[in-house]
Amino acid sequence: MNRLIMVLSQLVIILILLINTSTSGKEVKSTSCLKCHEDTYMKTIAYKYQHGAVRDQCPLCHINPELNDEIIAHLNFPSLQKESIIYIDRLSEKQDYEAEILVTDNNGKSCAPEQIDIAQKNSWEPDGQRSSFKLKKLSVVTVEEIKRRGFVSVVISWETDVFSTSEIEYRLPGGRPDTFEIKDLYTKTHKITLDGLKHKNKYYFRAVSRDIYDNTLKSEEYDFNTAEEFSRPSLKDADAAAPVITNMQVFRGQDNKGLYLKVSANKPASVSVTIKEVKKIDEKHGFGLLPARYSRIDVCYKCHPHDSSHPVGIKAESSKTRTPEGLPTIEDGIITCVTCHTPHGGDRVHFNRFDFRKDLCMRCHLQKYDNM
Ligand code: HEC
Ligand code: HEC
Ligand code: HEC
Ligand code: HEC
Ligand code: HEC
Repeated sequence: MNRLIMVLSQLVIILILLINTSTSGKEVKSTSCLKCHEDTYMKTIAYKYQHGAVRDQCPLCHINPELNDEIIAHLNFPSLQKESIIYIDRLSEKQDYEAEILVTDNNGKSCAPEQIDIAQKNSWEPDGQRSSFKLKKLSVVTVEEIKRRGFVSVVISWETDVFSTSEIEYRLPGGRPDTFEIKDLYTKTHKITLDGLKHKNKYYFRAVSRDIYDNTLKSEEYDFNTAEEFSRPSLKDADAAAPVITNMQVFRGQDNKGLYLKVSANKPASVSVTIKEVKKIDEKHGFGLLPARYSRIDVCYKCHPHDSSHPVGIKAESSKTRTPEGLPTIEDGIITCVTCHTPHGGDRVHFNRFDFRKDLCMRCHLQKYDNM
């Protein structure tokens, strides 16, 4: 009868807890555990010796509180584009990611960051046909600017009919060609600045573009002379409003080599992308159950001193001891605190699994302790 009253009063406590600690955000609370582990809870509160630490702190020992998404990469593409495709390499196939995208216009105004999920199942082709992504035309190769500040820098632009990379192959007369490439960015309008060129020299160059299927086009060879300085007025953006991302899309090429992220803005803008690992939230256990070594040793040290008890984290098997029967160990016979103690409290003093004055020690130790 007394027990029933106790149980009932505990139920009232649970209800009050449920009301007071309704879950907020991603944090995991004890009450959310009771829904499925009521049996464990009822057993816990019925023990003769209570482990007060346990009752309202189920997540403390069991649930991974890791909320921080780990940043994997940060990519910056200063070239101003209305539409571009960004290649993202080196992502694990077993992990989901999130990309945070920011576009910044010519006036230095940025949009609010937008998120897109990168799930490994993404595998569709971009807007349908493969053929619509095949590079067939490279045109309007233009020297936009030749400017001298110590060395000379030259701006070259061109266009392609589909999204492709930007690369310039350039050389002095009679010299070997050098190349300059913008990595991992596929666009239809291309602009490259060659820096560090020699004053009063003729240079030859070709514009080179490669589509996402590795079809490459090279322009014919053009030239410019770095003695002929000129510049175009840099056009300030007349539209003072911050740019807006109008579309984002993730896809994977047919050869499954990496992921492509397509970003469209309402006006030409530079793009920056931050890739983060997404920790999966399980409906049952949030970010996951903590590993046994943590929940059976490390967490106990949060409240109990290291020297409070018997050695742990070692193999039960030695010249003087054996792996015990009827006592739980982890990882093939490693002793934890929970090898001798039941973690949620117990009916024996010190929550011992067996009477330590009689038969606990002898389950492992081959020789009897005189003082036991
Ligand atoms: C929706 C029901 C549900 C909820 C809520 C839930 N669990 Fe579980 N839990 C389960 C099931 C089912 C298992 C069995 C194994 C599995 O599926 O992982 C389990 C397994 C466990 C285990 C491992 C048991 C073993 O034998 O290794 C622990 C520890 C655990 N849960 C603790 C918690 C804690 C702490 C909470 C609250 C934060 C919680 N659970 C919330 C359903 C739930
Ligand atoms: C949040 C702090 C906290 C954590 C974590 C914790 N304990 Fe405790 N433990 C206590 C407190 C406080 C007591 C004293 C009894 C009470 O008030 O509940 C206690 C009591 C005990 C006792 C009984 C002591 C006695 O004198 O009978 C044992 C055994 C024990 N804990 C083992 C463990 C083990 C094993 C773990 C890890 C699985 C652990 N504790 C984790 C706080 C904690
Ligand atoms: C002091 C740390 C600690 C706290 C707090 C704690 N547990 Fe545990 N729990 C453990 C350990 C360690 C084990 C593994 C015990 C074993 O192997 O027998 C365990 C085992 C379990 C299991 C699987 C075995 C069983 O007894 O059913 C479940 C389910 C569980 N706990 C749920 C909970 C719930 C629900 C709460 C909150 C009421 C809670 N735990 C609070 C340490 C803790
Ligand atoms: C090999 C069995 C065994 C292991 C492993 C073990 N204990 Fe104990 N522990 C005992 C026994 C037996 C007692 C009671 C006799 C004593 O106090 O020496 C005890 C007593 C305790 C007490 C209460 C007495 C005190 O000193 O406060 C706490 C708390 C405790 N253990 C915590 C732990 C923790 C935490 C771990 C893991 C780091 C652990 N124990 C590992 C057997 C063990
Ligand atoms: C789960 C198996 C296991 C149980 C149960 C166990 N022991 Fe041990 N004990 C060991 C192992 C393994 C060692 C390390 C042996 C070695 O050094 O070769 C050890 C070492 C010891 C040592 C030496 C500690 C040191 O720091 O060198 C003492 C004292 C001891 N145990 C006492 C006890 C007592 C008392 C009990 C019962 C309350 C007990 N043990 C229960 C496995 C166990």
